[in-house]
Amino acid sequence: MARIVTTFPLPGEASELLRPLGPVAGPDGWRDALADAEALLCLLTVRVDAALLDLAPRLKVVANAVVGYEHVDVAACRARGIVVTNTPDVLTDATADLAFALILSAVRGLPQAERSLRAGEFHGWGFWDYLGGDLPGKTLGIFGMGRIGQAVARRAAPFGMRAIYHSRTRLPADAEAALGAEWVDLDALIARSDVLSLHAPLTPDTRHAIDAGVLRRMRPGSFLVNTARGALVDEAALVDALRDGTLAGAGLDVYEHEPSIHPGLLELPNVVLLPHVGSATRETRTRMAMLAARNAHAVLSGHPPLTPVR
Ligand code: GLV
Repeated sequence: MARIVTTFPLPGEASELLRPLGPVAGPDGWRDALADAEALLCLLTVRVDAALLDLAPRLKVVANAVVGYEHVDVAACRARGIVVTNTPDVLTDATADLAFALILSAVRGLPQAERSLRAGEFHGWGFWDYLGGDLPGKTLGIFGMGRIGQAVARRAAPFGMRAIYHSRTRLPADAEAALGAEWVDLDALIARSDVLSLHAPLTPDTRHAIDAGVLRRMRPGSFLVNTARGALVDEAALVDALRDGTLAGAGLDVYEHEPSIHPGLLELPNVVLLPHVGSATRETRTRMAMLAARNAHAVLSGHPPLTPVR
């Protein structure tokens, strides 16, 4: 008879917040507990579709503990009067930091250098060894200028990079000036970026936004960085562009068919591959879980959610 169901282990403070509202079930056996659930706390690894909602006839809120919500059928939830929430803001800096970590790793060739050292190939300082590229003077292209895109833009100037962006909605002029970021159309973004970093949500419009045609038009020797969603990129086309040298390298935290990775990516030395860790700091993950718990708490207590998906 659980009133609240979670698909992942909650931090103690989230359990404490929710427990007074009623029994909390999960993560073990969470699916079987849905019959009585009024709140579901979940992650991007669970598809919240009509079939799942059918198992939870009393559900009032889907408190998604991540910011992206492409795995939630928001229309199906709305049709049943179920509120959907996500976790904006609390993971912005962690994700923007990781995007920059990937930019630095890819452009300076850090994983290759590290692998070489571990293989016993470091025989002393060599003037022409392990060379990467500079960031100062390079153009950082940002695809998608929401909270995370803006946080990445803010990090460009301290590294001496020029920021340009393309987004569905253009920022007001004063916000552009404060960020030092110039809006350009998609063609210009692709043609001018030395590093193209993706920060758009995954929607039917953005799926494969970076396809073979786009990859062909990127600057020779440029880099692609993706900390958003894998399916923004046609992964097979990316492998081709990396193999034929159109791109100098890539830094990827997300994949088209997670958790499987295109075997071509695994073979390429000039690609930095991370296991979807954009928001994976202790502080950030705790904030995400707490925000999801607060959203569930608000709805079950008859209050508006803090961060609803609209
Ligand atoms: C993580 O990928 C998120 O969407 O928060």
